[in-house]
Amino acid sequence: MIKLVGSAFYHEKEMREKLARFMLTTERFSFGDECKTFERAFAKWQGRKYSVLFNSGSSANLALIQALINLGRLKREDTVAFSAVTWSTNVMPLIQLGLNALPLDVTEDTLNVSSAEIQRALKRTPVKAVFLTNLLGFCDDIAVIKRVCAEAHVMLLEDNCESLGSVSSGIKLGNAGLASTFSFFIGHHLSTIEGGAVCTDDEELAVALQIVRAHGWDRQLDEKHQKALRAKHKIEPFYGLYTFYELGYNLRPTEITGLLGNAQIAYADEIVAKREKIFRHFAEVLYTKNDLYMPLRYEQMETASAMAFPLVCVSPEVRARVVERANDKVEVRPMVAGSMVFQPFFSKWQKHMIEPGMCPVAAKVHRRGFYLPIYPEMTDEDKKIIIETFSEV
Ligand SMILES: Cc1ncc(COP(=O)(O)O)c(C=O)c1O
Repeated sequence: MIKLVGSAFYHEKEMREKLARFMLTTERFSFGDECKTFERAFAKWQGRKYSVLFNSGSSANLALIQALINLGRLKREDTVAFSAVTWSTNVMPLIQLGLNALPLDVTEDTLNVSSAEIQRALKRTPVKAVFLTNLLGFCDDIAVIKRVCAEAHVMLLEDNCESLGSVSSGIKLGNAGLASTFSFFIGHHLSTIEGGAVCTDDEELAVALQIVRAHGWDRQLDEKHQKALRAKHKIEPFYGLYTFYELGYNLRPTEITGLLGNAQIAYADEIVAKREKIFRHFAEVLYTKNDLYMPLRYEQMETASAMAFPLVCVSPEVRARVVERANDKVEVRPMVAGSMVFQPFFSKWQKHMIEPGMCPVAAKVHRRGFYLPIYPEMTDEDKKIIIETFSEV
């Protein structure tokens, strides 16, 4: 059986040995130098000024929305649009923090939201921000999306948990908007077991994220920002360590996250290149020489750093047949979480945002789509089995 996730880490043995040595010798397990080093290395690799590390991609999403609320850049009852095909904890923070979550439909041949869809939404609804998911290593017309959002003064946020390293129109995904989020969960491009990050070039936002990450206090800020905050609020020294400035959580990663991140990032380019190569190999066979699946468009991707390989069948019946045939050969799963409009939590909390028949393409993806494994250490034999299993049914 070819599993969705091949191993916990790229270069598994080396990572386990590093981890074992670290556990036996470190004097510090809680957030410290390993985490800070990884933050700097990740920001540099991504090409952003700041990277703030969290204990998961979900926490990164929650912290980003909370930080924007703390800064007054989002207000309760504001509408934030998001990609209808995404993961639950992309949209849940919007709901949890009192915003209206407007689902945007995806485009049939890219599985991602296009600038045309955003423009349609902006004409009908006063949208404050777009929280775009770059689904499974793909995007639509990201350069135009960037321009449309900038011209309309709409904040563009990217959930890049599935697309680390992808490039389109010269833009490394995650660098199109104000901020972007990443997941380092097992099976994602870089694995730190659990982990996540927010990247941004905005200093004020980076500071706000550090406050949100740890209890709402200032202890994780550098001296300059700590001093400024204490002076602004006239905090007496006795209370310096126990003053809580903003609404926060405890979403800190441990040094294990930092250690593994530092070890994995050395291989980031290699991981991206291998994922891309497998993606293009599968795509050439399964998107073109096949009547079972809708062809997906990927010429807009200079680098398609796929987390997994998406397929949308020509009908729900074909999906049932294909999935049945894959049964004990290749592990498959729905397209991320399908359409959020169909998830029970969404209709429970956002009924007022649902219109009959909305997001028809996402509905199609929900009923006909699935994804199959891509991981960098996949063997040629595994690739052969996958192609054979999904080419002919
Ligand atoms: C688009 C997207 N956002 C957020 C997450 C959450 O990341 P994590 O599992 O690290 O909490 C995922 C997880 O797979 C995801 O696919």
